[in-house]
Amino acid sequence: MPVMEFDNSLTIGHELIDEHHKTLVAIINMLHDALIGGVEQKYLHYIFNEFNEYISYYFSEEEIIMCDAMFEMKDEHITEHGSFLGRLSKFSEEYLEKEDLISNRTIDWLVTWLTRHIFLMDTQHVVCLSEQPKGR
Ligand SMILES: [Fe+2]
Repeated sequence: MPVMEFDNSLTIGHELIDEHHKTLVAIINMLHDALIGGVEQKYLHYIFNEFNEYISYYFSEEEIIMCDAMFEMKDEHITEHGSFLGRLSKFSEEYLEKEDLISNRTIDWLVTWLTRHIFLMDTQHVVCLSEQPKGR
């Protein structure tokens, strides 16, 4: 059973951003399945790195969309992306020293952060985009 469902409650109405969120949810579920399937930590780390790389790419795409739309809260939003990437990178560095760090707690952290970020931050700039005059 997936640890996170991409359903209507996570759909924000921007085709590209929704597709990115769907992919992030799929990677988190892959990590969860691998963890409960008892695979080696080395493989979990590989999936965790995939998540890390994909979310970095997604953040940069989203930031371009926000800047193009001149979203007024973009600085705050970009800061939140940066602080999450900093935590991911610190976590990855610690993993290299201690091999049992990827656990259900890690997955809970990713699920909670992504859900909260979509609800509280990503929905705001989609509202901003939908309020723009057509043709921009
Ligand atoms: Fe975002």
